Amino acid sequence: MASASFVHVTKHFPGGDVAVDDLCLEVADREFMVVVGPSGCGKSTMLRLLAGLETITEGVIKIGDRVVNDVPPRNRDVSMVFQNYALYPHMSVFDNMSFGLRMQGFARPAIEERVFRAAEALGLGSLLGRKPPQLSGGEQQRVALGRAIVKDPHVYLFDEPLSSIDAKLRAELRVDLKRVQKGLGTTSIYVTHDQVEAMTMGDRIAVMKDGVLQQVAPPKEVYDHPTNVFVAGFIGAPAMNLIPVTISGRFLKGSAVEVELPYSSRVDRAVLGIRPEALSDRPAPRTPTLEMKIDVAERIGSDQFIYGMAGGDGIVARVDSSLQVRRGERIRLGIDVRHIHLFDVHSGQAFM
Ligand SMILES: Nc1ncnc2c1ncn2[C@@H]1O[C@H](COP(=O)(O)OP(=O)(O)O)[C@@H](O)[C@H]1O
Ligand SMILES: [Mg+2]
Repeated sequence: MASASFVHVTKHFPGGDVAVDDLCLEVADREFMVVVGPSGCGKSTMLRLLAGLETITEGVIKIGDRVVNDVPPRNRDVSMVFQNYALYPHMSVFDNMSFGLRMQGFARPAIEERVFRAAEALGLGSLLGRKPPQLSGGEQQRVALGRAIVKDPHVYLFDEPLSSIDAKLRAELRVDLKRVQKGLGTTSIYVTHDQVEAMTMGDRIAVMKDGVLQQVAPPKEVYDHPTNVFVAGFIGAPAMNLIPVTISGRFLKGSAVEVELPYSSRVDRAVLGIRPEALSDRPAPRTPTLEMKIDVAERIGSDQFIYGMAGGDGIVARVDSSLQVRRGERIRLGIDVRHIHLFDVHSGQAFM
């Protein structure tokens, strides 16, 4: 097992944009790192660079203490799982999972030990004799994960392995995969565009945009203290409300909000960030409020999200599911000022 590091790594595809831009990221030994960002932000390229499937333009990649820039893929000792796994349809689950080990010349007892252990961890113990067409999509994906896990590499690389699976199974596999990884203790980099996967699976998450790393931190820290407007808007669903405001001294003023800050600011304009749960339909006395005209209410089990307009700004708030609201109704929402964010209007950087 080993750490994996990108040191000032840049990847420039000929005739294309910079896919990965001066990336510095160290994934600790045994850590589960989730890399998250929108499509095209360079996630797959990062994994392919680490696996040796693409050459880097600049920088250094290390697995453990070893610089692997010039090490061919088969000698890097990483194991990769893709979204579009391909199993051998005529081979049993056992043979699919053990194929790589047989190619590497492992002896039968060692192969069996590893396959049985991985199958057990993934709940495939009773399916080893079946062939892929006799399995559900989720079971097939477990086999694909198992095939990577049996190799016992230094690092697992997962490239959106759950994104083609239906929601219920995805939620189950999320938990299974995280449990298996913790059990094996193998350093893992898991790439996804899904912020829910990032929040639930990562020991830390690395948020990417346009090839540039925006923030690396444990999920809660990224959620509570997003470093800039992009991260604030990307992590969390529904997204954080972002409202343009002017500031004079201690007073923030937007098209429909006024908030007194605990200190005075020297900046005269900013973007105010308020998470949906920092708005309340039962404001305490003297809490600053905003008035919202409701467009749509969405009930999801224990919570309800209400969407609408406050002045010129689209707003979403999380309220109690028992609250009855009508389209077009006006509602006054309290703002929890302990949980507001301020971002620079030009750079987008957080300053509070
Ligand atoms: N082989 C390639 N040739 C040229 N451009 C590429 C190649 N692979 C990826 N890119 C570009 O690099 C950027 C990052 O792609 P990718 O790493 O696949 O993003 P993600 O996995 O986050 O969706 C995109 O702009 C993509 O078009
Ligand atoms: Mg990709």
